[in-house]
Amino acid sequence: MKYRLGVLKGDFIGPEITDEAIKVLRAVEKAFSVAFDIIDLEASGTAYDKYGVVLPQETLTLGETCDALLKGPFGGPPEEINHPKWSNMEQGAILPLRKHFNLYTNLREVKIYDSLIDLSPVKPERLAGVDIVVVRELTGGMYFGEKGSTIVDGSKAYYDVELYSELEIKRIAVKAFDLASSRKRKKLTLIGKSNVMKSSVLWREVVEDVRSSYPDVEFDYMHVDNASMQLIMNPGQFDVILTSNIFGDILSDEASVLCGSIGLLPSASLGDSSFGLYEPVHGSAPGISGKNLANPISAILCLPLMFRHSFKREDIALCIEQAVKSSLDEGYRTKDLQAGNDDEDKVLGTREMGDVISDKILMAATSSGGHE
Ligand code: IPM
Ligand code: MG
Repeated sequence: MKYRLGVLKGDFIGPEITDEAIKVLRAVEKAFSVAFDIIDLEASGTAYDKYGVVLPQETLTLGETCDALLKGPFGGPPEEINHPKWSNMEQGAILPLRKHFNLYTNLREVKIYDSLIDLSPVKPERLAGVDIVVVRELTGGMYFGEKGSTIVDGSKAYYDVELYSELEIKRIAVKAFDLASSRKRKKLTLIGKSNVMKSSVLWREVVEDVRSSYPDVEFDYMHVDNASMQLIMNPGQFDVILTSNIFGDILSDEASVLCGSIGLLPSASLGDSSFGLYEPVHGSAPGISGKNLANPISAILCLPLMFRHSFKREDIALCIEQAVKSSLDEGYRTKDLQAGNDDEDKVLGTREMGDVISDKILMAATSSGGHE
């Protein structure tokens, strides 16, 4: 089977880590009967330098011809945040990409690797078995609601409207329940602020309704303030978290610290078809770019999500996840994962970590006489 993968490499460490994901993808091609045409799509800082825009129309048009997109982080250094090259990245590239492809479901997984448990700021006994997926609504709420300015009591005021329709809530609730029902724990927690916000009341009503079709899934609701505390106090109670765009943005960052490094975390953005956009959760880390220091695992772990959600190849997804896990189990580390007492020989650069993981995929294929 041949797929078209559009790649938007992004800024600073973006190209470095995306290249390692492509390296791993090439190993997957050798090990399994899949093949990829890689289409380079221009966006973010490099597109700005060439065309003066961060998301050219051509990129969207070409993207539509692809089966999936792999994206590196977009954005510049904090001290240049007001430079026109970077200042419009959210409103000019990141949000329009999500909207254009109708990617209303964002999945962010947080798993604990036993071999990295000491890196977490949370005590190990609270982390046993933690395996959480945050299902974040991605194309609605106050990110996309009306924004504006007005005068209140003679004082300048700006506003962002949090608006959700039943349809927007229902379609993502169905996806979240489908996901929960396919998982071991089969639990879904809806997170909102229904004691204060009208839109959260609608989330509860619609989700309660969808819930009746999933008797196998255990369901509970939590206010977001309590949930942010529970995520640190007792993260093991969560399985699938369903929440709005803004709450999901905040809670997924919070959840990401549980595993010890945000450099490990991928995400998937999905719509109604099998098409998906896959990207690391973290930013472009200008401070470490160009030094072969970045952890490529977040980009590499985008691939299992892509094989699982876009191409329905659980076998390949598991093989890549296993290759990452055994690399970590064997003590290989990038700088961000170095707790201080690790074996110096096993502290690897970006490219070397990509090599170790690719080799494991090739070895797994050879030892099983080829997967197919
Ligand atoms: C994320 C980021 C984005 C968001 C920003 C860069 C617009 O924080 O993907 O979580 O808020 O969605
Ligand atoms: Mg965020």
